[in-house]
Amino acid sequence: MGKRTGLVVVASSCLVVIGAGCSNESAPAEDDIAQISSALTAPIQNGFEDGTLQGWIPRGGTVVLTNTTEAAFAGTRSLKTTGRTAGFNGPSLTLTGQLVKGATHQVGVSVRLVAGEAPTTIRVTMQRTLAGGAQAFDTIAQNTNVTDGGWVTLNGTYSFATDVTGLLLYVEATGATTSYYIDAFSIAETAPAPLASDFEDGTQQGWIPRGGVTLTNTTEQAFAGTRSLKTTGRTAGFMGPSLPLTGQLAKGATYGVTVSGRLVTGEVATTLRVTMQRTLPGGAQAFDTVAQNTNVTDAAWVTMTGLYTFTTDVTGLLLYVEATSATASYYIDSFSIVQLAPPAGPPANTLGASSSFESGAAEGWFSRTSVEVVTNTTADAHSGTRSLLTTNRTATFRGPAFDVSNVMFNGSRYRVELWAKLAPGETSTQLRVSLERRLGSFSTTFHTVVNNTTVTSSDWVMMAATFDQTLANSQLTLYVESASGAQSFYIDDFKITFLPPAVAETNIPSVYQTLADQFPVGTAVRAGDLTGESAVLLTKHFNSMTSENDMKWDALQPSAGNFTFAAADAQVAFAKANAMQVRGHTLVWHAQTPAWVFNDAGGNPMTPTPENRALLIQRMQNHIRGVMMHFGNDVTTWDVVNEAIDQSQADGFRRSPWFTIIGPDFIDIAFQTARAVSPTAKLYYNDFSTTDTTKLAFIAALVSGMKSRGVPIDGVGHQMHNNVDFPSGAAVTNAINTIDALGVENSITELDVSIYSGSFNTSVPDYTNIPADRFLLQGYRYLTFFQAFKQLQGKIKSVTFWGKADNQTWLTSAGRVDGPLLFDVSFKKKLAYWGVVDPLQLPGADLSTTMSAAPMTVPAGQAVAYTITVTNNVDTDTASFTPKDDDLPAANVALSTAVPAHTVFQSLTVPAGWTCNQPAVGGSGPVQCTNPSLPAGASATFRSRTRRR
Ligand code: XIL
Repeated sequence: MGKRTGLVVVASSCLVVIGAGCSNESAPAEDDIAQISSALTAPIQNGFEDGTLQGWIPRGGTVVLTNTTEAAFAGTRSLKTTGRTAGFNGPSLTLTGQLVKGATHQVGVSVRLVAGEAPTTIRVTMQRTLAGGAQAFDTIAQNTNVTDGGWVTLNGTYSFATDVTGLLLYVEATGATTSYYIDAFSIAETAPAPLASDFEDGTQQGWIPRGGVTLTNTTEQAFAGTRSLKTTGRTAGFMGPSLPLTGQLAKGATYGVTVSGRLVTGEVATTLRVTMQRTLPGGAQAFDTVAQNTNVTDAAWVTMTGLYTFTTDVTGLLLYVEATSATASYYIDSFSIVQLAPPAGPPANTLGASSSFESGAAEGWFSRTSVEVVTNTTADAHSGTRSLLTTNRTATFRGPAFDVSNVMFNGSRYRVELWAKLAPGETSTQLRVSLERRLGSFSTTFHTVVNNTTVTSSDWVMMAATFDQTLANSQLTLYVESASGAQSFYIDDFKITFLPPAVAETNIPSVYQTLADQFPVGTAVRAGDLTGESAVLLTKHFNSMTSENDMKWDALQPSAGNFTFAAADAQVAFAKANAMQVRGHTLVWHAQTPAWVFNDAGGNPMTPTPENRALLIQRMQNHIRGVMMHFGNDVTTWDVVNEAIDQSQADGFRRSPWFTIIGPDFIDIAFQTARAVSPTAKLYYNDFSTTDTTKLAFIAALVSGMKSRGVPIDGVGHQMHNNVDFPSGAAVTNAINTIDALGVENSITELDVSIYSGSFNTSVPDYTNIPADRFLLQGYRYLTFFQAFKQLQGKIKSVTFWGKADNQTWLTSAGRVDGPLLFDVSFKKKLAYWGVVDPLQLPGADLSTTMSAAPMTVPAGQAVAYTITVTNNVDTDTASFTPKDDDLPAANVALSTAVPAHTVFQSLTVPAGWTCNQPAVGGSGPVQCTNPSLPAGASATFRSRTRRR
């Protein structure tokens, strides 16, 4: 590094495109045609990028198919169809032997007319050849308007119920001679064929007795057809007809179960219940209620339906129909179990969707409820000349809709973006983007994608969000609705982009290993963090963990005396298996504590009486004992009391129910109780804003008071929910030193650095729109903290981040995303990571300047030449990382100097890329130069001449 001079070199707001948070709009890679086996085990995707026809053949003797670069929906190629002479002519794909009867398939294809063709309608059809040779034609995607101005995506689901000898899918057009392109074709099986029992063949169709009952195929009653299954000889509620399903249902898939039941004549009305007996790997059994009817009689059939999904590994599945009555005899009929949605998994296609409306068509959008009217219009446009106008809405939920069943797949992440504007004269309202999710006919639910956003008739407003909810579905429709009113509005430039799954980088330094000589590095964990890429990120960078929510009171003792440890136990087991420490958080807190804790014996909220004080102390002690004894030595540090100080109170105590019912000594009692359970556990008091000197003084007084009373306390946890501007390193140092001076430990327990601060508080609705300079400031703020921690060597026992990656942070809420952690939503390192691990990697962190002057002594009136060199030094680390961002350009570099005293300015040579302000010849004053970006390794040399007065 060069010698530092008196010049000031600063790097400020980052203009550099950094890995974190920068959108990647490049087109997804296309798969080649999938391997074909007897059933469609993997989706077929045709993007035509390999230059071949990918198995497509002409339908109609004159039809010519060509792989072309003239137009493409994605990538650079598509399939062109010319030479058509009849509507049914077109490109076709043989699917014989690849689709299973009864299974459900999702089909999607993008189409566009060849330039100069008149608009027409295009549809997707299946030609099904039956055993005798007869042919049937099934419409998969309805006639849809298509022009030569833009791509339109046709979607549909397909299943067939007959035996077939041939299946040919083709894309046809109403215009007999129209030529068109197709691209981005996909077909995927979304559900296997249903399992069903109708008992019409006279057998029991696989049903077996559960308990010593008798099953008979009978013609006495039937819900459909002439036969049903009769169960007699029952002697206990759980007995009944049962169907072994082991190996036939998939973990994580969603099923719809239907069965009809009726009591045998003379039986008294009772409840019939469909139950799944699930055998777990160790042999333990779980019972899930699938469906029931509480009033089944001998007079009529009732049909029971329910949804079923299981998420554990299983060694056995047995579905049965039981009754509340121990002895009732009954019939069952018309049983079926259909898969409504597959387990979350790799998406059938990753093409996303878009509509610019420049084609003049609705481009896949339609009227959601058929009352509202959607029109392609030139009245207004966000870009180009056209948009989609929705009028006659009459209710908030009526709006333009788009079928995303074959676009947004369960368990994948998408960015959804569109622009909206109200029609002229409409009063301002809030619009939002929603999803209607269907699971067959079994269930319909509604989900918000883009939160309520204020939209007016004067400006186009972007509505955008990242959607990553797991939504099992059989049909998914995206739509735009209003929070209130039925205003007409335009939408434009709609785009759904598939975001590839997060993959943790492994060829970068581990955070905890880098800091191994200072303290263990922890993170908050949630249930889902223990598997997949989250677990890779977790074990690579952290050697301590705190359960983010699963050791709080509401998780561990939701009702009196009923302890539920499963989620926390799984995390502790994971920590042990990976040699990580566990911090216990938290035993006594006012939040996330169930209401029953603070209710009196009569179930009403406690008032401060001696009885209630005694009852609440007893509950607190029971809880501390129950929890600490359960975890034993697996959890050696506990946040015993959380957030009990409120510096706005004269006495400094938060007015929580603990304080108001028990009094300030609830804290002493909690710590004494904890010590009685464990003589060795580290017992902490934990709180936020510990750098606030008023609050810090109250905490210090609490700790010294406890010590003087002989109450056991081992440490203070500093949550450190901070932001890019706050607090200062000095404030952190003061907080740690203040506590250390009391003779107890310090730990940083919940560190995060919000992108929002006093100077920037406008909510950012989508992660990709967080300004890059927030992440640069964040990198420098983390650097400030970790420099302070380093200087406080020995006084800090552990540092825990409140999460790992920005996909999961408590600071993000609907409409306001935050990104306070070391890794981004795709698990890639951020500048924040460099701020902690290797701060010289931060843009502008490694600038140096040199200055020399000649001659060294100058008589009056003579000239002196100065040479100033600014360098962005190259990393001297030997390690290189992928992507290689360990040498970042410095952005907005500024060089400030002045014409030296006793001299006047003569000239300045300015290196390329720099802009300077300098005095006039013969004048004096500041010389200021700036450069928007100085690459790593680059030097800039300035030569200046001045003359001695
Ligand atoms: C937060 C969790 O991160 C959230 O998931 C939950 O909804 C609320 O609690 N101080 C604490 C932590 O001590 O327990 C809080 O955790 C964040 C503030």
